[in-house]
Amino acid sequence: MKEVDLKAQPFELLFSQDRIESKIREIGEIISIDYAGKNPVLLGVLKGCFVFMADLIRAINVPSEVEFISAHSYGSATVPGELTLSGGPQASLKGRHILMVEGVVDTGRTARSILDSLKRMEPASVEIVTLLNKTGRRESEIEIKYSGFEIGNDFVIGYGLDHGQMYRNLPFIGKVIDK
Ligand code: IMP
Ligand code: MG
Repeated sequence: MKEVDLKAQPFELLFSQDRIESKIREIGEIISIDYAGKNPVLLGVLKGCFVFMADLIRAINVPSEVEFISAHSYGSATVPGELTLSGGPQASLKGRHILMVEGVVDTGRTARSILDSLKRMEPASVEIVTLLNKTGRRESEIEIKYSGFEIGNDFVIGYGLDHGQMYRNLPFIGKVIDK
């Protein structure tokens, strides 16, 4: 198999820091209105959510709690494999309003499997918020209430999202170019 030099992976800018920032402000304002008088639990799906979560929670002005769950698939850098969930919320989610926070929803398999395991915890409500949404790639039907940017078939990096565990530190979102 051909070795891929990840450090030399070519990419181009898709969403600048400014665009991401104003989009998150917008989503934060809507969530703040929708959850007024409530105390939601933001459940982040690691690892891809971590940068988005940090900015999103500061754009929400209702008292919010934070939990994380790890979703890991043993695939290649860009193609997901078998999915495992680990970690998971420390607090009981029974009767709570949950906002599942994702960096990107691609096939929807991760979101579907987390939604199914959350249902067993009897929350009051569960909604999904994702910064990036690849609707055209869906294999599992899921409803996403809050979506930042709709994207196509591109593989994206930066702002928490990786390619072979790298590029999460880029402050913007880029798309990987196949060369
Ligand atoms: P799913 O296909 O919706 O289950 O998404 C699985 C996971 O694959 C996401 O949570 C991301 O961690 C990862 N993923 C999907 N598309 C991308 C991408 O374009 N860039 C980086 N990670 C991605
Ligand atoms: Mg990944």
